[in-house]
Amino acid sequence: EKGGHDYFMLKEIEEQPEALENTLRGHFHDGGIVLDEQRLTEQDLRDIDKVFVVACGTAYHSGLLAKYAIEHWCRIPVEVELASEFRYRDPVLGRDTLVVAISQSGETADTLEAVRHARTQRARVLAICNTNGAQIPRESDAVLYTHAGPEIGVAATKTFLAQIAANYLVGLALAQARGTKYSDEVAREFGALAAMPDAVRKTLGTVGQMRALGKELADSKAVLFLGRHVGYPVALEGALKLKELAYMHAEGFAAGELKHGPIALIEDGLPVVIVMPSAKGRALLHSKMLSNIREIQARGARTIVIAEEGDETVRPFADELVEIPAVPTLLQPLVSTVPMQVLAAEIARARGYDVDKPRNLAKSVTVE
Ligand code: F6R
Repeated sequence: EKGGHDYFMLKEIEEQPEALENTLRGHFHDGGIVLDEQRLTEQDLRDIDKVFVVACGTAYHSGLLAKYAIEHWCRIPVEVELASEFRYRDPVLGRDTLVVAISQSGETADTLEAVRHARTQRARVLAICNTNGAQIPRESDAVLYTHAGPEIGVAATKTFLAQIAANYLVGLALAQARGTKYSDEVAREFGALAAMPDAVRKTLGTVGQMRALGKELADSKAVLFLGRHVGYPVALEGALKLKELAYMHAEGFAAGELKHGPIALIEDGLPVVIVMPSAKGRALLHSKMLSNIREIQARGARTIVIAEEGDETVRPFADELVEIPAVPTLLQPLVSTVPMQVLAAEIARARGYDVDKPRNLAKSVTVE
């Protein structure tokens, strides 16, 4: 049942290309993006002037990425908030606010209450969910199902990649409704997304390297993760995976914050995982990141750099270079996440832990 894998999570990591394919399939028809359940009118969507994204944990990290895409494509302000914070404050919502609730299980208590809170303020709610007929989609005005298939491992992997794709589909659907993108542009962006399953398949070529590295890092005291722009939520996710699976201290930082505190943590031999922005797509961010790596390497960090293949500039500063395919900037998280998932699982395994059932955690968090 684990398909010859040592643990479900590895099987699910390897299923990510299909999870993406299945999520994209069926959401593009006749040149446009389609949702699964749509109880909103075109006019409702056109009138949206503010988006809140609410979610917990890994789903929240996918939500952080929604902001980059939706603001870029739709020119609507987007706020991303932990559901457990959103539901207890007094966010400013109205009929023209769209609340996007992301939940793999569709049953997470805080996300469900955030949805209810939004609805009492007359906001429109769109759910992104992996479970047909779960409570959150039932209480929403529109639904986009991720078709990642059932996830057995408690730690979210393939549902995370599927959520990222779903967020981008929602962004394109909004852009289409609002007319901020012509249909040929929507089709082009969808085409770029549709090429990602193959890019992820290629990225699975790093599994062997990451498993070996995981064994090497098993005795580390802590691991830091650095990213910029869309690499920042990926860094947060890499750290969360390591905490929950390997019970190891891990923190994700925006690389620009280094000088504002975290650089004090750097000491001899400390492993730091860095998500390198695309050299072509984001030359300025790329050069900023290079100087960050230089700084931490000079202070003794062991640098593990996830970078586009062919990025030779980074090689001298990488104690370990992990090469991922070059893809458009917004889509890079779909590939850069993969080696981090394997790394966390393998460190956990080397420490003797049950990767599929980390202590104290449940797959579906239906109580606060
Ligand atoms: C981490 C993980 C959790 C979930 C979170 C939300 O690997 O799985 O952080 O992402 O509990 O769960 P859902 O998506 O079901 O609302």
